Amino acid sequence: MIVIESVAGMQAQSRNWQQSGESIALVATMGNLHQGHISLVDIAKNKADRVVVSIFVNPTQFAEGEDLDTYPKTWDADKTACELAGVDCIFFPGESEMYYKNKSIGVSEESLSQSLCGASRPGHFSGVVTVVAKLFNICLPDYAVFGRKDFQQLSIIKRLVRDLNFPIEILEGDIIREADGLAMSSRNQYLSADERLAALLINQSLHAAELLYESGEKQCSALIRRFLETAEQVGLRIDYAEIRSVEHLELLEMVFEQSVFAVAVYVGDTRLIDNVVLKSTEI
Ligand code: PAJ
Repeated sequence: MIVIESVAGMQAQSRNWQQSGESIALVATMGNLHQGHISLVDIAKNKADRVVVSIFVNPTQFAEGEDLDTYPKTWDADKTACELAGVDCIFFPGESEMYYKNKSIGVSEESLSQSLCGASRPGHFSGVVTVVAKLFNICLPDYAVFGRKDFQQLSIIKRLVRDLNFPIEILEGDIIREADGLAMSSRNQYLSADERLAALLINQSLHAAELLYESGEKQCSALIRRFLETAEQVGLRIDYAEIRSVEHLELLEMVFEQSVFAVAVYVGDTRLIDNVVLKSTEI
């Protein structure tokens, strides 16, 4: 496994692979790798000859007062995890390698990013789409794998590829959960023991709403009420709980075909997200 820190070095390596006819899959991360990330590496390995994992805690997607400074950095463990998972290359740039001091061009998304996390974290998705577009131009992948855990991010990246004509196929990974159902996240380690217990209610409450849906309830307000009833029992502070269409993230009154029930919840000071896709039960 090789580690490349420079943009020029990464582009040269990817061009070499391309010239020898090898396909490349990118798994973009901010490090502190867990099984959720590794599941994306497995998808990448099944699809492409070479797998690149990028590790870069992207400052431009953190707003003032968010956890940029405390975001967990675990380089040695990340490197070992990549080696064990059979990754070919880690792209590990420093901030000055990624961003010119006088940078003046970025990518913004003007529709899908207005709601959900985009509404609570202004500027977040401009930071994400810009860094992902840069990573595409640096790593030159044929495939890029993203997790459904960040459902809105995935939708926006698909739109980025479509609207800016990146010749890249986006692959999707399911949400990987801890044994007790909590969606894996680097931010879970901010939780105290009591908060960790309370956080379990996020997935359980989503599941309660999903069961209600499967029993025939299609009205979004009733499904959201079921989520809130359960989640608010343990004092979780809800940032949003919304049911939207999968493709365009439009707010729905009734669940139709594939809809996503997406939530963001504060457990103490830690903001966690989760979602469930409500699949059509009609044949
Ligand atoms: P990060 O939070 O490190 O996540 C990297 C990738 O792992 C994303 O595609 C995310 O959806 C996926 N992921 C995280 N937790 C997961 C889980 N429990 N199950 C499945 N997939 C999971 O998302 C980012 O970094 C950044 O915004 C990035 C795209 C790298 C741009 O900076």
